[in-house]
Amino acid sequence: MKREQWNSRVGFILAAVGSAIGLGNIWRFPYMAYDNGGGAFFIPYLFAMLTAGIPFMIMEFSLGHKFRQTSPQIFAKLGNSIGIKLEWLGWFQVFIAAVIAVYYVAIIGWTISYLGFSFSQSWGDNPNQFFFQDYLKLGNNSPSSLGDFQAGIAISMTLAWTMTSIAILSGVKSGIERASKIMMPLLFIMVLVLIVRVLMLPGALSGLNYLFEPDFSRLLDTSVWSAAYGQIFFTLSVGFAIMLAYSSYLPSKADINNNAFMTVLINCGFSILAGILVFGVLGYMAEQQMKPLTEVVSSGIGLAFVTIPTAINLMPAPYILGPLFFTALVIAGLSSHISIIEAVTSAVIDKLNISRKMAGAIVCGTGYLVSMAFATNGGLLLLDLVDYFINNIALLLSCLIELLVIAWLLKIAILRQHANQRSEFKIGAWWEICLRFISPTILCAILLKNLYTTLVEGYGDYPIADQLFLGWGLIGTMLFFAILINAVGKKDSFPTDEYK
Ligand code: ALA
Repeated sequence: MKREQWNSRVGFILAAVGSAIGLGNIWRFPYMAYDNGGGAFFIPYLFAMLTAGIPFMIMEFSLGHKFRQTSPQIFAKLGNSIGIKLEWLGWFQVFIAAVIAVYYVAIIGWTISYLGFSFSQSWGDNPNQFFFQDYLKLGNNSPSSLGDFQAGIAISMTLAWTMTSIAILSGVKSGIERASKIMMPLLFIMVLVLIVRVLMLPGALSGLNYLFEPDFSRLLDTSVWSAAYGQIFFTLSVGFAIMLAYSSYLPSKADINNNAFMTVLINCGFSILAGILVFGVLGYMAEQQMKPLTEVVSSGIGLAFVTIPTAINLMPAPYILGPLFFTALVIAGLSSHISIIEAVTSAVIDKLNISRKMAGAIVCGTGYLVSMAFATNGGLLLLDLVDYFINNIALLLSCLIELLVIAWLLKIAILRQHANQRSEFKIGAWWEICLRFISPTILCAILLKNLYTTLVEGYGDYPIADQLFLGWGLIGTMLFFAILINAVGKKDSFPTDEYK
């Protein structure tokens, strides 16, 4: 089968940016910056971006471009060249993507419901009660006792799946690229319009002061650096098979370094814009409610589905600003969801040698069914638990092993040469230093710390059995199946001299 290709460079960059910019940028980043030293957080964030984000992106773009295959086959080939089995690492990454895909779509589903509610602010005067009790009907459930099926949530999730499936089944050029070319400019325009409007509201600027006011003393706190480093991999969609798949569709003449820089810089720039928007809104809300900002600030689920709706209630023309905000969130989420599903679909296409339509139908169909576990009363709890383990343990583990393999077991200079031969500007030895020394050291330290805290303290108030089965057990199962696929795969089916 001839490999599909992007139609244009802009198309590729918009798709990569669409993958990177997602829910993580809008609800994780602003609060993280605020909570970790405000303006001073930009120093560790910039450091993480330069020493891990950009080098990792160049590394993944080079690998995808060089091998023109997806994560499992790339690692199988790399392993083959040094006589060890590595296909499992690729499958582990694909499984991470698959798990993220099934809970990420639940959040997009809620966002779609909220887009509907926002026209008339159906969440009423108490968005907190509305979200947890009227909408999710959370009750006394837990991650393993999910309560009743929620048809309303399932319908919104079905809509999200429909859009993702259309993009995936239509292919790289006519599906993903076309969708990104429409969605990304639209997202930027909407966020800019929102920012301009919000900054004109009273109190908005004092919100920005809170976000940007630097507390340099926080730079001595290692947790601030680990927050910045931990965020960079998820936000850039590296380490879970996505960017490898996307760059495998690059034409042979494509630029690598420049494309990687642009993708990272646009993503991180967008995060700052999202920070300005969110803190502008919080500043206005604090002033309207005559409360200090520290009392209204929140992150994650609480920010999107409780705090922002509360702020929308107080805004002029809420029926315009509300839908605008939630449409932006839906677009950001969908473009990332498409890329996460593409990572899985392309791996299935490459492994089984079946058509995109067939692979897409299997992946989207299975994903749809599994994701319905989140369309329940306790879906939020399951999501929170799984997200914690995937983000703080599985993803960091995958990134660390990937780095150790590429930078220590293989000759990394080969990749640098590959990237430089095709790129407008060349990367120097700093790139290798980041990938060989700086990133693995910091990643290893964060991972060990996360493993230790999670083992000793657990996560949240969830029952121990739930954490064992749905957290540790899930990661163990993913590793088991990854190794199993590798073990039963054909032996030495690749030439050993491809990596040189
Ligand atoms: N990179 C995507 C996000 O930040 C997955 O949400």
